[in-house]
Amino acid sequence: MTSLLAGNRAQSVSARPKYLSLSAARSVLAYGSHMAQFWRPGSERPRATLVDDEEGGVLFVSAPPPSSSSGFGHSSLERQRQRLPVFKYRDAILYLVENHATTIIVGETGSGKTTQIPQAGWAEGGRVVACTQPRRLAVQSVASRVAEEMGVKIGEEVGYTIRFEDQTNPSVTVIKFLTDGVLIREMMNDPLLTKYSVIMVDEAHERSLSTDMLLGLLKKIQRRRPELRIIISSATIEAKSMSNFFQARKKDLRHAAEDCVPSHLPAILSVEGKGYTVEIHYVEEPVPDYLQAAVGTVLSINDKEPAGDILVFLTGQDDIDAAVKLLREDTQDDRRRTSGLLVLPLYSGLSRVDQDLVFAPTPRGKRKVVISTNIAETSLTLEGVVYVVDSGFSKQRFYNPISDIESLVVTPISKASARQRAGRAGRIQPGKCFRLYTEEYFLKEMPTEGIPEMQRSNLISCVIQLKALGIDNILGFDWLASPPPEAMVRALEVLYSLGILDEDAKLTSPIGYQVAEIPLDPMISKMILSACSFGCSEEIITIAAVLSVQSIWVSMWGAQKEFDEVKLRFAAAEGDHVTYLNVYKGFLNSGKSSQWCYKNYLNYQAMKKVVDVREQLSRLLRRLGLALKSYHTGFSECPLFLSFILRKAIIAGFFANSCHLEEYSHNGLYKTVRSSEEVFIHPSSVLFRVNPKWVVYHSLMSTNKHYMRNVIAIDPSWLIEAAPHFYQVRTPNLAPC
Ligand code: CDP
Ligand code: MG
Repeated sequence: MTSLLAGNRAQSVSARPKYLSLSAARSVLAYGSHMAQFWRPGSERPRATLVDDEEGGVLFVSAPPPSSSSGFGHSSLERQRQRLPVFKYRDAILYLVENHATTIIVGETGSGKTTQIPQAGWAEGGRVVACTQPRRLAVQSVASRVAEEMGVKIGEEVGYTIRFEDQTNPSVTVIKFLTDGVLIREMMNDPLLTKYSVIMVDEAHERSLSTDMLLGLLKKIQRRRPELRIIISSATIEAKSMSNFFQARKKDLRHAAEDCVPSHLPAILSVEGKGYTVEIHYVEEPVPDYLQAAVGTVLSINDKEPAGDILVFLTGQDDIDAAVKLLREDTQDDRRRTSGLLVLPLYSGLSRVDQDLVFAPTPRGKRKVVISTNIAETSLTLEGVVYVVDSGFSKQRFYNPISDIESLVVTPISKASARQRAGRAGRIQPGKCFRLYTEEYFLKEMPTEGIPEMQRSNLISCVIQLKALGIDNILGFDWLASPPPEAMVRALEVLYSLGILDEDAKLTSPIGYQVAEIPLDPMISKMILSACSFGCSEEIITIAAVLSVQSIWVSMWGAQKEFDEVKLRFAAAEGDHVTYLNVYKGFLNSGKSSQWCYKNYLNYQAMKKVVDVREQLSRLLRRLGLALKSYHTGFSECPLFLSFILRKAIIAGFFANSCHLEEYSHNGLYKTVRSSEEVFIHPSSVLFRVNPKWVVYHSLMSTNKHYMRNVIAIDPSWLIEAAPHFYQVRTPNLAPC
């Protein structure tokens, strides 16, 4: 394979991003603002030196005070902790958070924000701290790390909560990691989040949809709870605009007890990291296939460069699995050349066992190659990485409110992301970053910043959650960046057509409120509620549980034939949803055997998760007072009847996703009824090549074409039955009203 490295065009950049820093604080001082020093009682040193910039209303900490002894033992873990830049700012952080309603902390990835700030010592004052992450995998991983550092069992003093998994003990947990989505859900039962004294919104620069919602909601809560402290932390952030957003009005703090009125001005703390220099190498010509180029680059690094692990950024599970397979095959073909490589994937849907492999120390004499989505960009830190290969792409969600199609699209990353990715190579020593794009592209074409998810997403779930929290005027909500009005209108329309909102855009009772209680996509929740009336809720919650895990099949990249054969063992003529029922039944009959999963190309961890999620859904329905019925107990065992009611329940949630096969199509071309978009059945579906005349799909995935995933065959008359307000009969076809 030819080398893609343009070695002699190396250009040196510092991995240390430029943030507000010590020098910024000094310059503020020079412009005549006042300075104050704070002593801890009995201490000989100032606790922190603060510089107050009256005009901008921003406070900078000018120097980290030496950290006090932590009281922990001096194990190697403890020594690692103490070396982290954030550790040294511990007192300053405690001071700032005590005195400011909001504190913004910026520091490069790996400086210890996520693991150290929650441990700064809040518990000593009897406070409970919540730390949010946009990604589930990061929640689990950092919670384990912090529990380990504190020498406690996960789920006790340190716990975590992600959707369908709660590892906390309310009476003892004092540090809780959770996704921002879960924290928003907690507001439904506790609108002011009274159980937390400190809430840290981490990875705020990612600007995920839930993070943006959470920031707006926290700002509202802050007005009612002046004693609440908010920390916003991130690797790279427009600290000033975040600070403007959180600048409280003085009168909002009037309820605070007199002796603890916090400053209404947010404090900004820049943690100085200690990244090493990273050499950047660009390709000379654009690469035709980034996956092949990434694989080639890894092999070249292994051939030519000294020891050090390699981190490769690709876009998603499919291309990561493909690259892992290519590299592992190469290892087998040419043992001499690549026998030292330990190739591992890293993405959100990964099982716990595979995750642990990624974070385990590299075995002696081996070189670890981790092939990752942008999760390793800032959310997770891998030790030992010296080389980064950056494809220049990531997968992003894009929603088109006109066609109502939401697709995960492979998109060029921003310059901010490219810098973060490069920085990953400079954690332990000077490193190298190989960019699979040209320098000219980087300089002239790559966008500076990414677009917040809020502005490129379907807003259905967001709208229903805000409505459930009593926020009626959603466009008037205090957004960090406003959502596009078209997407908002579309979300309101869909929720109205599902019977979740009424004509005044208020949640309907009971359906709207019940849907809001179920932590799933509103369309799935509506499907479950309809199944309760049809008498097949036991079956539908199994389907909902399967749809809520990433994928129950093990990766079958490049093995379509074997995959087709396996699917035939379970395939149902109705389509994928009913096929999942057969898979689930088989799993239970096998005694939940991992061997059985292995033989049937099923992911054992995912199947266990399905059983768990299903159990939680059934508990939730009971709590909502809804009947759990199986057609076996309610009706005669007529398979045809089950086949009908199951699909009718699915349609009750997904009627808007109907498509019909083009009459003269020989290549399986469908058109959506709603917007006449051209779509195809995905090869992973049991209905691939079967091509029924009418179908309803669960989701669309766009690569070179729009592919429908999880498809069922339907009778079009069921659409009118389910949504007479949405469809009208127009000979020869249906059309949306
Ligand atoms: O949040 P930030 O990127 O600033 O850093 P962090 O996640 O708190 O990580 C600080 C250090 O803890 C990293 O340098 C890792 O070495 C270590 N860490 C780890 O070993 N395992 C984890 N699951 C998380 C962090
Ligand atoms: Mg972090």
